[in-house]
Amino acid sequence: MATSAGRVAVYPGTFDPLTNGHVDIIQRGAAIFDRIVVAILVNPDKSPLFSVEERLGMAREVFKAQSGVEIDSFQGLLVEYAKRRQAGVIVRGLRAISDFEFEMQMALMNRRLSPSVETVLMMPAESYTYVSSRLVKEIFALGGSVTGLVPDLVETRLAEKAEQAGHRA
Ligand code: PNS
Repeated sequence: MATSAGRVAVYPGTFDPLTNGHVDIIQRGAAIFDRIVVAILVNPDKSPLFSVEERLGMAREVFKAQSGVEIDSFQGLLVEYAKRRQAGVIVRGLRAISDFEFEMQMALMNRRLSPSVETVLMMPAESYTYVSSRLVKEIFALGGSVTGLVPDLVETRLAEKAEQAGHRA
């Protein structure tokens, strides 16, 4: 949707935590759209490692120098949030064929719910095709290195979490 604010896209997700794969997609989206709103889902059914406030804070810090990138959170239906934000596009990352089925299902369901909102699937750099928040958390919890897979700030926050939990020295 072209608005007075220009072409706005929403990039929704859990972002627990933000990875360099997400960052890559956000940068690519920011190069295409006037504004990309990174929308963190508030999901009471999940028990995330980082609270929504922590995830908002990390993403805001990582993108503080980019005026075309906004970080927000949302509850409820994504298409309703997109309408409220006057966004005509939903951006999602597609790492591999294995992502495709779920992304296609969501895109078509969102189109049924709101035909005016278009989903755009974007491919990250090849070096991030195997990166996921779930694997990052698992590797870190087991003492492996996540350097280069997440922004430096996220790595620091992971270390702080582990220290708080007393899992790692
Ligand atoms: O990072 P994720 O967990 O793959 O993101 C999934 C997300 C947040 C995009 C999806 O669960 C979502 O849009 N949830 C909001 C509720 C909704 O609109 N559900 C219908 C989707 S077809």
